[in-house]
Amino acid sequence: QPVIIEDKDQMRKWSRSMRSKGNTICLVPTMGYLHEGHISLIREAHKHAQVIVVSIYVNPGQFSPSEDLSTYPSDFHGDIQKLMAVPGGVDAVFHPYNLYSHASISGKVKDGDDGGVESKGVKDKGVGVVSCVEDGRLGHQTWVRVERLEKALCGKSRPVFFRGVATVVTKLFNIVEPDIAVFGKKDYQQWRIIQRMVRDLDFSIKVLGSEIVRDNDGLAMSSRNVHLSPEEREKALSINSSLSRARFAAEKGQVNCKELRDSVIKTIEEAGGRIDYAEIVDQESLGAVEEIRSPVVFCVAAWFGKVRLIDNMEINLS
Ligand code: PAJ
Repeated sequence: QPVIIEDKDQMRKWSRSMRSKGNTICLVPTMGYLHEGHISLIREAHKHAQVIVVSIYVNPGQFSPSEDLSTYPSDFHGDIQKLMAVPGGVDAVFHPYNLYSHASISGKVKDGDDGGVESKGVKDKGVGVVSCVEDGRLGHQTWVRVERLEKALCGKSRPVFFRGVATVVTKLFNIVEPDIAVFGKKDYQQWRIIQRMVRDLDFSIKVLGSEIVRDNDGLAMSSRNVHLSPEEREKALSINSSLSRARFAAEKGQVNCKELRDSVIKTIEEAGGRIDYAEIVDQESLGAVEEIRSPVVFCVAAWFGKVRLIDNMEINLS
C-alpha cells in the first residue's frame, strides 16, 4: 500500500528521508485515471530505482480555458487499486490539491500572497482555476518555457500547453527531488521538452522515455479514449495503421516526407478524422525534414468527434 501524500512540504521531507537511506528515487508524473500506459512507466521505473513516487495531479496550468479540464476523467480510488497491483508496487503517491495557490489542502490561504482571492476561488475545481492560474491572481507568475521546442507540433494549436507542462514538472521536480523521472513516448514532444529543460537548467535528474503502450487493436492508450464512441474508436485506428504503413514504406526506401505525409493524411481523413497536424520531424530538434536520412519521428494529432488524439512512430533507418 503506497503512502498517500497531499502536502508539498511533507512530500519533500519523505523523499529526503528515503534519499538519506541511500535509495535512488524515481518520479512518474501523471494526471491520474491510470491505464496500462501509465503502469508501464512504473515497470520501467523499477528497473532504475529503489523508491517509486507516482504523482497524480490534473494540472490546470496546461489547459487553456476552452479545453477539457472540467471533463478530464478521474478515479483516485481506482488509481490506487491499480498501483497496488503493480509488481513491486509504488512507495508513495503524491496527490496535491492545488499546486499553484499558497493555500493548504483545506483551502485556507497560508501566507496572504493570493492577490486577494478568497479560498472559495481556490476551491473551485472547474474552469475558475484555469482563469486564476492564467491571470496570475493566485500569486503564480513564473513560467518555464522551452522556447523553440514548445512551438512545434502540438504547440501550434495549444500555445500555453507546454509552458504549463514544463512549469508543473519543474514544481514536481523541486518538491519530490527525484534522481530519475520517466515519461511516455506517447507524448513525444512533452518528453523531449522535459529532457531539454533538464539539460538547459541543470536539473540533476535523468529523464527516461518509455515506449508507447497500445490496446490490442493498435490504438495508443490514453485517458481521453473513454470519450470516444465505439464508431469513433474504430475510425481512430486509422492513425496507427497509417503510421505503421508509412514506417514500412520508409523502410522499403520511400523516404520522401511529403508523399509519406500525404498518404497518412488521406487515410485518416477518409476514415472521418480531422487532421490537426501530420509531420515528420527530427527526433531531437522536432524540426520538419523533407527526406528521411537520420532518425525521425512521424507525429500525428487528429480529431475524432470531440476528441483530439495524438500518436507517433519513430523511424530509425539503419
Ligand atoms: P498523463 O496524460 O496522465 O500521462 C502521464 C504519463 O504517462 C506521460 O509521461 C505520458 O506520456 C505517459 N503515457 C500516457 N499514455 C501512454 C501510453 N499509451 N504509452 C506510454 N506512456 C503513456 O502527460 C501528462 O499526464 C501530464 O502532461 C504531466 C506530465 C503529468 C504533467 O502534468
